[in-house]
Amino acid sequence: MTKIDDCTLVIFGASGNLSRIKLIPSLFRLDSLGRLPERMKILSVGRSEVEESLWQDDIKSMLDNKFKKKFDPKVFDRFIHRNFYHANLPDDTHAFERLRVRLSDISTFPQNLAFFLSLRPSDFASIVDLLANAGLLDESKAWRRVVIEKPFGTDLETAQALQKSITKHLKETQIYRIDHYLGKSALQNILLTRFANHVFDPLWNHNHIDHIQITNNETLGVGERTKFYDATGALRDMIQSHLMQMLALTTMEMPEKFSPENIRTEKIKVLESIKPIPIHALKNHAFKAQYGRGKINGEEVKGYLEELEDPKSVVETYAAIKLYINTPRWKGVPIYVRTAKRLHASNTAIAIKFKKAPLSLPEQDDNWLVISIQPNEFTRFEIQTKIPGLDTKVRSVPMDAPSRITGDESIDAYESLLLNLMQGDQSLYLHINEVEASWRLLDPIIKAWNEDKSPVFTYPSGSSDPVETKVIFDKPEQFWRHSIEINDNKL
Ligand code: BG6
Repeated sequence: MTKIDDCTLVIFGASGNLSRIKLIPSLFRLDSLGRLPERMKILSVGRSEVEESLWQDDIKSMLDNKFKKKFDPKVFDRFIHRNFYHANLPDDTHAFERLRVRLSDISTFPQNLAFFLSLRPSDFASIVDLLANAGLLDESKAWRRVVIEKPFGTDLETAQALQKSITKHLKETQIYRIDHYLGKSALQNILLTRFANHVFDPLWNHNHIDHIQITNNETLGVGERTKFYDATGALRDMIQSHLMQMLALTTMEMPEKFSPENIRTEKIKVLESIKPIPIHALKNHAFKAQYGRGKINGEEVKGYLEELEDPKSVVETYAAIKLYINTPRWKGVPIYVRTAKRLHASNTAIAIKFKKAPLSLPEQDDNWLVISIQPNEFTRFEIQTKIPGLDTKVRSVPMDAPSRITGDESIDAYESLLLNLMQGDQSLYLHINEVEASWRLLDPIIKAWNEDKSPVFTYPSGSSDPVETKVIFDKPEQFWRHSIEINDNKL
């Protein structure tokens, strides 16, 4: 276990949803597992006055809501006593000076400081300026780190502007850009599946792979985030970071060493090797759609425009793109990436279709390798075997390798992310070059879609992929895989 320095985690936006549902519960879990350093403290910063004891009561209710069970009173008390509250009132011009004074109480707060900005993205740069001006980012006596929640910019230009602004005060080693997907154990498993097994690497190239599908589908709609979502769209919300990271882990070269820096270097290389999308042929490379009314699990749900209360929006809730990587390994292999809200099922997976087998019998299927990220974590290889009987017929049979077996720990992505933050390990965080490569690639599509005000294709909520997405596939026999569930083998 890596030793962790005593430190103080300062959470901005502590009363917001992320903090209540993810950060505080994850810190509590880490404490229960004995993973927090002994003197570690959590200072929650909010924009209103709240008495410390009331804040601690609030934390109790966050934990009750999340875990719904009795806690070990020793662990619970220890955790509650790690927590403090500080009001940064909006009209207080000396707010950050007061924060500095509060944090300088070394009898309470360890001086290694990590600032978690769970704030509106438009506030990231100015908060970093204010922290720096108060001397809170100076590393001469202790380490100082800043966590920036997604999204890092809304396009290449804004990402670069944010980077320019924060690097006035911070070195790359102090910046922790979040993509919470990297905290998921199932994503970390992609590299291990590829490189800790002998069988996969020799097959992992254009000689054997027909195409790859990277998928995130949700039955959920946009919920209460209509305003945010309408300014964002599916391409930015899911593909720009989460799915591009899944793509990078699936297609990167083997790192020289299995170290955080080497892994990031290989991810950057592969992301930078993706061919730009030909905008003149956008229709064959990218498809967008929006959900209408429909039924999810038997219940009527509203369409996107009704939820938004704006009949004119053409913002996509379904986005699918086709990419090619310009390296010898991936020559000519299409990679189809899609995400959707309000589809018939929720699943996140990587599906790899292998090329035709030497023998071809009627009704014979192809080999697929599916790495399922959620709701279930497993790797499935589908092989063709003879159907017992008098005829020469085959059927596709799954060979399942569940990643999770009874008794395994269930770790929330934020637990891994927060632990790595305190350890100073940036492997689960994004390097600026990854962020930029991804925006560089997607910006032209975002721009073209923004300019195109023609009516958007609508799919009923609860349906499966619109057949119209066929236009982005290279061959008639290629289409989205639907059946990647493991219902028969749930653990
Ligand atoms: C977020 C997106 O980053 O990821 C959401 O903003 C999306 O729209 C969510 O629902 C999906 O995360 P997860 O961990 O539930 O797959």
